[in-house]
Amino acid sequence: MSLARLPRLGHGIGLRSEHFSEFLSGDVPVDWVEAISENFFLQGGRPRAVLEAVRQKLPVVLHGVSLSIGGPDPLDKQHLQQLRELARWVEPAWVSDHLCWGTHRGRYLHDLLPLPFTEESLAHVVARVGQVQDTLGRQILLENVSSYLTFSASTLTEWDFLAEVAARADCGILLDVNNVYVSARNHGFDAEAYLKAIPVDRVGQFHLAGYSDHGTHLLDTHDSPVTDPVWALYREAVRRFGPVTTLIEWDEHIPPLPRLLEESARARAVAEAAVREAA
Ligand SMILES: [Fe+2]
Repeated sequence: MSLARLPRLGHGIGLRSEHFSEFLSGDVPVDWVEAISENFFLQGGRPRAVLEAVRQKLPVVLHGVSLSIGGPDPLDKQHLQQLRELARWVEPAWVSDHLCWGTHRGRYLHDLLPLPFTEESLAHVVARVGQVQDTLGRQILLENVSSYLTFSASTLTEWDFLAEVAARADCGILLDVNNVYVSARNHGFDAEAYLKAIPVDRVGQFHLAGYSDHGTHLLDTHDSPVTDPVWALYREAVRRFGPVTTLIEWDEHIPPLPRLLEESARARAVAEAAVREAA
């Protein structure tokens, strides 16, 4: 099996409440938008009305933050049903979430926590991805998270673990280029070697975002522009994977829409240059 060929949607931004009025009042010049699934679970209300209007004009992708695919608790059945209902209603180009855990004994920890990269956790994640894909009736994409610690129990590298999950669960990869860079700096591995270990045909989407530099470590804060080293890594990613659908993530200190569009336009320019270089 392999990842169903996903469309290349171009360059998009997140559908955030700060920009709802602009999305409602006119055409926002982006190729597509990413909606945080959980923000649109509630039927009726303003978020669904905005999403309804936007999906008439633009392709939509659903991105979840609390599936906790690697967590110790059983998957939350109510959450899965809400996600299925939303996906049926939105008809997104695809659905994604994170390769992490974020619940413990029924409590959401509001963090995307890294997993130990072992055969045991691999089997655990693969089985749960199967459960999610069966419920949704579609393949999902899983995103690499940034991390600040590693488990001494790990027997696999992060990149091999991610590639193995995708192969065994037959799902796709949302490659967050910023997260690769942040984790590479925090743990001292080679970010380009990470990219080279990820199978080209599994990557359906890229994320780009800003981090903050705390000297001893980088923090994945999504509150600032993409940095120069991440632009450079993105160029390498496009050279390897092609002009994959790309999102600028900006979740804190969200700027006015024109500034966000400027960042997305820069991603387009970098990607187009990389495609020319690779030709
Ligand atoms: Fe991301």
